Amino acid sequence: MNNIHRHVVWALGLGVALSLAGGITGQPLGVTATAKAEEAKKKKHPGKRLYMRRTCIACHGRNGARAIQDYPNLAGQDKKYLINQTLDIISGKRKASPDAQGKPRTEAMVGALISPQGEVRITKEEVEKIADWLSQLPPAKPNPPKDLKPEDIEAGKKLYKKKRCQTCHGKRGDKPLKAYPYIAGQKYAYIINQMKDIRDKVRTNGKVKVMFNFVKKLKDEEIAQIAAWLSTIDRTAK
Ligand code: HEC
Ligand code: HEC
Repeated sequence: MNNIHRHVVWALGLGVALSLAGGITGQPLGVTATAKAEEAKKKKHPGKRLYMRRTCIACHGRNGARAIQDYPNLAGQDKKYLINQTLDIISGKRKASPDAQGKPRTEAMVGALISPQGEVRITKEEVEKIADWLSQLPPAKPNPPKDLKPEDIEAGKKLYKKKRCQTCHGKRGDKPLKAYPYIAGQKYAYIINQMKDIRDKVRTNGKVKVMFNFVKKLKDEEIAQIAAWLSTIDRTAK
């Protein structure tokens, strides 16, 4: 078994453990009949089946949220954005800096979707179906690290405004321009990784160049503060 496969198997195990944990703690009582109907409808979505069959679930969690802290939440993300990024990661257009093991952070996903012989295990149409399903899911509840300092969260909120991030991502990271990403409630570590990769011109695919001037002078500490604030925003509370 190569590393990537081991990783997927491990992540799948975690996914199962998480679903079991979810079964024990249970859903909050009082889920309305309409909400249940909505859920049922989503279950039949072909994108959901593909999401499981193409192993996305192993790393991105049962409902596009929360399996592993460094990995992005996908639930409720913009559809076009999801399609573009998935295809760019698979094709290698979107690059990433190395993780703690020294491997580019996009490598495991590429390894899961392209065979060692170079055969791509997913079609564009399948990616579109998965993105359609994911974009309809309710966004994840925020899950920031417990040890964030209130003063950093506050500083991040101010910096976000000062650096005019709202021009493209909305006042609280929850109203992006068309086909741009939602960033409110995204995972802390993931936001930091992406902001650094965009600043350092490691991630240069798609429309990301338009953001460069807004982040090029940010220090690591400031990036962490902005991420602290964004990771605490609840996109489900409207
Ligand atoms: C082996 C783990 C793994 C698998 C399997 C996997 N991903 Fe990923 N995915 C990642 C990681 C890690 C990242 C973040 C990369 C980075 O930090 O730059 C990512 C990033 C993404 C992003 C970018 C999100 C954003 O906000 O920009 C999308 C979209 C995505 N994955 C979709 C998918 C889909 C769809 C599938 C299944 C077809 C899938 N992934 C399978 C690990 C995985
Ligand atoms: C001029 C528009 C613009 C501004 C201003 C801007 N961004 Fe972005 N941002 C983008 C675009 C476009 C992307 C990615 C689009 C793509 O690849 O197609 C992006 C991507 C991101 C991502 C990665 C999202 C993900 O899911 O991977 C984060 C995090 C982010 N921006 C945060 C910020 C912060 C914080 C600021 C302020 C310091 C900011 N942006 C300012 C346009 C902008």
